[in-house]
Amino acid sequence: MRPRRPVFVDVDTGVDDAMALAYLFGSEDAELVGIASTAGNVGVRQVCRNNLGLLALCGVTGVPVSMGSATPLSAPLRTAEDTHGPQGLGYARLPEANSELTTYDAAEAWVRAAHAHPGELIGVATGPLTNLALALRAEPALPRLLARLVIMGGAFDYRGNTTPVAEWNVSVDPESAAEVFAGWNGAENLPIVLGLNLTENVAMTPELLSRLAGAAGSPSTPMSAADARGTVSTASNPLIRVLEDAMRFYFEFHHDQGEGYLAHLHDPLAAAVALDTEIVRYRAAPVDVELTGTLTRGMTIADWSRRWGREPNAVIGVDVDPAAFFDRFIDRVGAFAKRLG
Ligand code: RIB
Ligand code: CA
Repeated sequence: MRPRRPVFVDVDTGVDDAMALAYLFGSEDAELVGIASTAGNVGVRQVCRNNLGLLALCGVTGVPVSMGSATPLSAPLRTAEDTHGPQGLGYARLPEANSELTTYDAAEAWVRAAHAHPGELIGVATGPLTNLALALRAEPALPRLLARLVIMGGAFDYRGNTTPVAEWNVSVDPESAAEVFAGWNGAENLPIVLGLNLTENVAMTPELLSRLAGAAGSPSTPMSAADARGTVSTASNPLIRVLEDAMRFYFEFHHDQGEGYLAHLHDPLAAAVALDTEIVRYRAAPVDVELTGTLTRGMTIADWSRRWGREPNAVIGVDVDPAAFFDRFIDRVGAFAKRLG
């Protein structure tokens, strides 16, 4: 078995964040040392409830969960219940938490984890970068303390999913994204940034979800857009039941958007890359965020032609093999769910 590596994850637990957490729970080469709860898909207290509830559902203990800022650095908070459901996990219901939040906040949690694992910690951010930016303000050495940082965010030479040019995580808190990219200027380990240009290649379908259920020993009939809205999962496995009820809402949202009865697994791809960077191909570039554009606020720009005269401060994901990702995802999450069954 490959050595276990310390991983700290910062999530705005919504549906795909939950799938990313399940992937990390099921990865024997990951030692999850902390979860930061960030306001985004839903409010920060609901994100905390979702994170604690997922730990309880999966029987995972000893992973501290911290609450982050209730609002972005300077913008008012916007949330996405239309996409992820009123509690952020679609139609799924989680068990009550069986652990408490830390007494320190999410920014402090980042710093404590980095100090506890200097040069070893892998950071994964799959929500707005509010708490990572606050952590960077508190500990400017963070880029040197982290062995790797993977960010799901932005859209590079690709349309947005929140405005015509801005991706959700960056759009909710553009100032924090700009501070994080600036803070990693000149770092030895540049952040790996996975934008929609990459993550929208990785689309969960009813057939793939059914394959996951089968891998967990909990076979189910593939969902369909023809099903009654909110049809409840009858899977025998508790984790598969939650993931199916969560994904159904996510499928319905994308279907209603005209994107098909599918759902892009943005955050699970970030979790997979955090443990195995070689599953994606990259290009380094100077990256920055538009903050003042009337039409373009929250847009992420990669200066591929070096017009700004700056050195690269990010490594951008540009290609992925979706089938290879899903094989890995289903192997790990399916086997983990089966152990819970
Ligand atoms: O734009 C996709 C990202 O925004 C994902 O992280 C999703 O969970 C939402 O937070
Ligand atoms: Ca997210």
